[in-house]
Amino acid sequence: MPTDPRLDALPDEVVSPITPAMLAGGRWWHEAALGPWPAALDRGLIEPRRGYRFRPENLALPLALGPTRARSVLDLGAGSGSLMILAALWLKAPLALGLELQPEAVERLRRTLRAYPEIDARVVQGDLRDPGCLRQLLDALGEPADVVVANPPFFQPGWGRSSRNDSVRLSTHAEHGDCGDFLAAARAACAPEGRILVVFDADHLAVLLARAGERDLRFVGLRWIPDQRPGKARQPFRVWVELTPGPGGAPLRRIDALPDHPHADSPPSST
Ligand SMILES: C[S@@+](CC[C@H](N)C(=O)[O-])C[C@H]1O[C@@H](n2cnc3c(N)ncnc32)[C@H](O)[C@@H]1O
Repeated sequence: MPTDPRLDALPDEVVSPITPAMLAGGRWWHEAALGPWPAALDRGLIEPRRGYRFRPENLALPLALGPTRARSVLDLGAGSGSLMILAALWLKAPLALGLELQPEAVERLRRTLRAYPEIDARVVQGDLRDPGCLRQLLDALGEPADVVVANPPFFQPGWGRSSRNDSVRLSTHAEHGDCGDFLAAARAACAPEGRILVVFDADHLAVLLARAGERDLRFVGLRWIPDQRPGKARQPFRVWVELTPGPGGAPLRRIDALPDHPHADSPPSST
């Protein structure tokens, strides 16, 4: 597919597609029967040739959101902007705001957003743990966000053989705050009836839920992406967790596996 001329990728960058085909061949999207994939996403986005690039599980966001609309979207730790762009187009949200710590990623995302003139999209460079930065976000939003999306790093700093590439390491390892910090920022910027959607590693889910409870965020629902590796078939790999402001303790409403996946033929029933 020809690249949109507005996406001026540099020689050390690539234009990544944003298509459901990236996840389980796209069959899951067909079965989800949520309507057409937003055509504008064909334009893709600019990413580093060597560095962190968005992962296929991000594409399951519309499934977690469902067929609904919103006025504003906030993406905490926006990276190359896949969640922000996908959420804004899916929800037909006129306003989308991204916050990102890494200046090069911010500059790149600003170039990507030139290819999406239908969204009033802005990116703020800063640290979500900084109260001044959160105030700046709220000022830019005008009112708290209807929908907050985030893909926080889930490895503790120094865990395993972390990448020497800064863009990768700062995305995978919580060197500048963990999921608790992401949730605190989400809580501060989310409307009282708003929705917070977080994609996380399934093995670390208990930590995410504990941090959510500590921050007075109520669990609403969960969908998981099954592992594609043969030895791990049927096991959750990544999870999309929905939270909302409010005290915890509410019963689980929904736990679903992604539909139409080769390993998802017998998902646990809803509770
Ligand atoms: C796992 S990556 C996700 C990037 C993108 N949202 C995606 O899904 O592809 C986490 C992102 O959070 C950013 N980040 C980490 N700590 C942050 C902080 N304290 N303030 C703002 N952004 C932060 C990282 O730079 C990285 O871009």
